[in-house]
Amino acid sequence: MGTNEQARQLTFLRNSADVAQAVAEEFTRAARECVARSGRFTVALAGGTTPRQAYMRIAANEAANDDDATRLQWDKIHVFFGDERPVPPDDPASNYRMARESLLSRVPIPPENVHRIRAELKLDVAARQYERELRDCFPGAAVPNLDLVLLGMGTDGHTASLFPGTAALNERSRFVVENWVQKLQQWRVTLTLPVINAASNIVFTVVGADKASVLPQVLADDAASQFPAQLVRPASGDLRWIVDEDAARSLPQHQHLQRSA
Ligand code: 6PG
Repeated sequence: MGTNEQARQLTFLRNSADVAQAVAEEFTRAARECVARSGRFTVALAGGTTPRQAYMRIAANEAANDDDATRLQWDKIHVFFGDERPVPPDDPASNYRMARESLLSRVPIPPENVHRIRAELKLDVAARQYERELRDCFPGAAVPNLDLVLLGMGTDGHTASLFPGTAALNERSRFVVENWVQKLQQWRVTLTLPVINAASNIVFTVVGADKASVLPQVLADDAASQFPAQLVRPASGDLRWIVDEDAARSLPQHQHLQRSA
């Protein structure tokens, strides 16, 4: 098996609801372990539409949990964002707004623990400000090592706002950059690969038939990585894919045998 495969776990689940529950459980497991071990949990949330259900599930699981001993300690959790669109925080396209509506407004996380990308500013200013805020949360670290990075994947194999052929893919010193995305005719702000690959845990969440053609190409362990999602290779952390059957339907049959129960 290639290195890529050794560090990668694939979980196939029947539908998006099961995927959302699995992502919520992964989030909660990581949060509990990190807070117990180091006194805090740092996570970068994915944007787009897929994660909304998982974020709502996290909030619902918390609301239903009346056991103080296992409920998450939100005052010890720091939330970052993998990327942001060039819009204010109340814009329907804002990844922050999606996370606020589905999770952050439903749990007792202190406002100062939510580290929003201020994409209403000039994006180069927003990117540098966000990088400063990220670095300040990891004092002394050469590269901020987030405990968990949640990622989605587009039909072109992009992840965060690392789109095929864009400059941010080649960034190796900055942790947050503004990135021109020609296909969208839009600037984005995104975490770069150095900080994503420094994470202790990375979880891709992919659902839906529209991802069925790109997923096998991305998961193919060939040297010629042509999709941004293939460049997500944690230096020492774990990489996990949680996908539904619709997204997995074009995978070679043998990979389905690894389906989780
Ligand atoms: C964004 C995300 C992006 C997203 C993929 C998948 O800002 O859009 O960061 O990388 O995860 O585009 O989006 P869907 O979940 O909507 O398919």
